[in-house]
This record gives sequence, C-alpha cells and structure tokens, in this order.
Amino acid sequence: MQWLPIARDAEVSTRPLAVTADGVPLMVYRPEPDADPVVFADRCPHRLVPLSAAVVEDGRLRCAYHGWEFDASGACVTVPSQGSIPPRASLPPGPPIKIFDGTIHVLAAGLPAPDPTELLTNEDPALRHGWHPVGLATERLDEVQLLGETFRLAESRTQERWGMIWLAPDEPKVGLFTDPDADDRDYVGAWLPPARTPASAGLVADNFLDVAHFPFVHAKTFGAAEEKTVPRYEVSTEPYGCRSVQEQWFDNPEDPGVLAGIRPVRQRRRATYVYRAPFQLLLRLEELDAGAVKTILFFAQPESATSTRIYTKMLFHGIGGVPDPSAEVVAGEVAFEEAVLAEDLELQQRLRITGLPLRMRDELHVRADLLGVHLRRILADFRS
Ligand code: FES
Ligand SMILES: [Fe+2]
Repeated sequence: MQWLPIARDAEVSTRPLAVTADGVPLMVYRPEPDADPVVFADRCPHRLVPLSAAVVEDGRLRCAYHGWEFDASGACVTVPSQGSIPPRASLPPGPPIKIFDGTIHVLAAGLPAPDPTELLTNEDPALRHGWHPVGLATERLDEVQLLGETFRLAESRTQERWGMIWLAPDEPKVGLFTDPDADDRDYVGAWLPPARTPASAGLVADNFLDVAHFPFVHAKTFGAAEEKTVPRYEVSTEPYGCRSVQEQWFDNPEDPGVLAGIRPVRQRRRATYVYRAPFQLLLRLEELDAGAVKTILFFAQPESATSTRIYTKMLFHGIGGVPDPSAEVVAGEVAFEEAVLAEDLELQQRLRITGLPLRMRDELHVRADLLGVHLRRILADFRS
C-alpha cells in the first residue's frame, strides 16, 4: 500500500488548502477546528471550480462560485439557485487518509479520477474560424497575440467595429452580431480598461452568461441583495449563437425616483443576454420601473493557453434619471463595473482547469445553467 504525503497535520485548518498527490489536485480542510482532516478532489461537481476556494461555515463547505454546500461526508445539502438537490450533486468520496509523523497521507490507490480532457482551450485550431477582438482601435497595435500565435494586423483579415479591431485567421463561420444600442446617438458609451485573466475565453464567456454566481462572487458589490433563486428562463437559438430574456428583482437605491419617494427600492429589471460564437457577448439591462437602460458589450480574446484579454464597453441611457448621463455619472458606473469584473477575475485566478468542458457529463448542469448549456453546445458545434 502506497501512502502519499499531502500536508502537515498542523497546517490544516477550517480554511481549505489546495494540495496535490501524484499530480492529482486535492483539497484538505477541517470541518471544525478540532475535527479530523477531510480530503476531496479539488473540484466542485457543478462547474469544476476548485473547492480549495470554498469557505467552511457550520462544518459545511460552501463553494465560492454558486454557493453549493457540502457536509463533511461530501453530501450536497444546498443548491441555492433552486430549492431541490439534483442526484449526483454529492462529492465522490476522497481517498482514505492516515496521519503519521505529523503528516497527512492519502492512499495512492484511492485518488480521484483526473480532470476531464474534452476541453475547449484558447489554442483550439477550430477557433481560427471565428472573429476575435484583438485590441482597441486607439491602441494602434501592429502585432497581436491570438490562439497562441502572433499575427501582423497589416497581413491579416481584419475589420473595425465598436472602436475595436477584429481578426479572423481563417474564413469565419459567422459574422459579428449587431447591436442597435451602439449606433443609437442617445446612448453614451464608455470603455473599461482592457483586463487579462489566466482563465480560458470559454470559461470567461460562461462566467458572463451566469446569473447564479451573483450573490456569492459579487457579494461585496451588488450581489448581497440579489435573489439566490434563479427563476426558470428560456433561451432561443440563433446561427452559432443564442439569446435569453430574463426578468429579475433587484435593489435600486440610486434611482432618483426612490430618493424622491415615488418608487420602492425593490424593482424589476429585464436582462437580455446575447451570445455569438466564439466569444461575443452582450447584456442589456432595462430598469422596468425607473426606465434606465444599460448595455454591456463584452468580448474575450484568446491570446494563448494561459491568457485571455477582456474588453468591456458600457452604453447608458437614462442612468441617474437623466437622458444624457454626465461624465461623472458615467465614470462612476465604469468604476463600479471594474470592481464587479475584479471579483470575477479573482475567482478565475484560482481555476485549475485549462479550458471549457464541452461534454455534458463532465459537469452537473442545473436549471439556472441553461445559458451555459447552450454555450457549450454552440461551441461544440462550432468546433465540429
Ligand atoms: S457551486 Fe461550485 S461551481 Fe457552481
Ligand atoms: Fe460575475
């Protein structure tokens, strides 16, 4: 019997620790300060996010992404986006453990199965057949990184749209989507500074389409007041893309109508998500009571296997109760959106998976994940 050391007994606490045994990612923690250590594979069955990023509360592990909770036996006890717990939601048992010489060891024969390999990475050759954002027009770049290669703009197939340069290495399968708001002179537009993340563009797109993570990942910005339950919604498909309209409750303390006592702070919002392969995304938020509209254009550039560049453009109409928001209001909105994006990037830093899983059985999709399921199907189709 082969026992592999993973951590000193004394360094393991109620704060989960990421470790490896024989190259297999594991996590170890104590459900209570004096309890025996517990070891599981370092991935949540839902979206494979590391459970080493989870927090322990009342003896339960709470996943950092969507707040699913697991007890010390691995049983799933809460799925906040819906009331019920789907079968297969529990964690597979971790390897047997033994403590000797002050060190926790795991049984080599009991190690969990490796991560799935059917992943869409940033260097997938199929991505050559798509339009990719490669920089803001104002950056005046000569060369860009895309799909692990360097492209000279002067020698490539390019076009300009929304103030950005787009590049398609090979004949693109589908064009850029249209966004009526961007051409509407009533809208005020503003770019966020482009950001970088080590997560693959597929995972970044999945994160953008996901609503169920708001209360957990965005607790410090806007998430704390968000509904945890995600109402049923529908998704309609388009060529290499999809669209979904969802109505949500949210708190709108900045609405002048609230300050004037005309409207309650709890209001309705209509969120329209638009996705087009490979990584074009749009979210249009209409405040149904206050009448303001905010559109977020969101694009990901798969630069290399370990780097994705993110472009976010915001378009406003009626924010702050005036048709033309002032520069100050726009700057405030941009700063807020940057703080929101930073929360997503923080979790993405911790991902151990190198691409978006495309096989349905490798993750555990629930009702709230309908958009993510469409994303995976569309990208699998784009790749074939
Ligand atoms: S709850 Fe863990 S990834 Fe969604
Ligand atoms: Fe987010």
